[in-house]
Amino acid sequence: MKVSYLDYILRNRLPVTIFVAVAAFVLTFFASRAERDGVGYTPDQPINFSHKLHAGQMQIDCQYCHISVEKSRFAMVPAVETCMNCHKVARTDSPEIIKLTKYYNEGVALPWKRVHKVPDYAYFDHSVHIDKGIKCESCHGEIKNMNKVGQMNSFTMRNCLSCHRNSHERLPYIEGISKGPEYCYACHR
Ligand code: HEC
Ligand code: HEC
Ligand code: HEC
Ligand code: HEC
Ligand code: HEC
Repeated sequence: MKVSYLDYILRNRLPVTIFVAVAAFVLTFFASRAERDGVGYTPDQPINFSHKLHAGQMQIDCQYCHISVEKSRFAMVPAVETCMNCHKVARTDSPEIIKLTKYYNEGVALPWKRVHKVPDYAYFDHSVHIDKGIKCESCHGEIKNMNKVGQMNSFTMRNCLSCHRNSHERLPYIEGISKGPEYCYACHR
């Protein structure tokens, strides 16, 4: 009796299981390739804005500028108006502030270069993380010490999942932190 390879596969669950396991591994591996990752990306910005000065030395609260981080998917970069709350009077003689004022007077949004970005097919939401008490630093590093913002941590699927699986280890400062979801639909909607 001749058993075709297809019959063999259909009758035996083991090869199928192995196939699925290998496919899942390959998928995860490619989904987490280092080259998709922006770690280290630190672009020059149109205005030489320093977090170290504003959030570090002057201790302005992150949410004074990133207003929607608790309520929405996005943290948002502040509008020029927010800067002008102070810079209508502060350092108006400095070349960078003269440049800033020009954007403001012309009503042009500042062309800040985006640093952190996950691909559009992946779903990330700030508010669910912030509302659990996760600090900005756990994902973005010590922004308070940066003159120029760069990407410190990996935002690959592997890294999201690594915290979702081991949230108690990654977030020791939050007592009784729950795990994040691992099912595909949570992040691929
Ligand atoms: C005075 C306003 C202000 C404050 C306060 C501030 N930021 Fe920002 N933030 C900005 C501006 C403007 C940008 C865009 C320019 C840049 O990247 O430097 C930015 C960019 C960022 C980015 C990168 C965004 C991207 O493109 O991916 C992160 C992350 C960030 N801020 C986190 C923080 C954290 C954390 C704090 C508090 C420790 C903070 N910011 C405080 C104004 C502010
Ligand atoms: C709460 C007040 C406040 C806000 C809001 C604020 N700044 Fe400032 N900023 C200051 C002060 C005060 C200084 C001067 C600090 C010093 O020299 O010791 C400064 C300094 C600066 C400098 C350095 C100027 C120089 O050449 O010495 C830049 C550039 C700057 N701010 C850009 C911005 C931008 C862009 C925003 C909005 C995203 C912003 N600031 C929001 C208060 C503020
Ligand atoms: C759990 C990880 C995590 C935490 C905690 C976190 N961020 Fe982010 N942040 C991200 C990811 C991932 C992106 C890219 C999101 C995207 O592409 O949609 C991002 C993007 C940003 C951006 C770029 C613009 C935007 O609206 O997405 C800013 C600004 C920012 N974060 C600020 C903050 C601030 C301020 C805090 C703390 C209050 C914070 N983040 C906490 C992961 C995090
Ligand atoms: C916690 C969030 C999260 C979960 C859960 C998750 N993913 Fe992802 N996935 C991402 C992010 C973020 C990216 C984009 C970054 C990257 O390429 O690693 C991604 C990328 C991918 C890619 C890469 C697409 C390409 O262009 O190469 C595939 C395939 C993928 N995911 C499949 C899955 C499958 C299948 C599951 C369920 C077993 C899953 N993901 C669960 C966050 C998640
Ligand atoms: C530092 C840890 C950490 C990192 C990094 C992290 N997460 Fe999470 N995430 C959590 C925790 C903890 C929860 C569970 C919050 C709760 O209990 O509702 C969560 C929940 C979520 C949820 C569920 C939201 C809902 O509607 O219930 C999504 C979606 C998500 N994360 C996406 C992502 C993506 C995409 C990334 C990577 C770009 C990521 N997370 C990175 C800790 C993290």
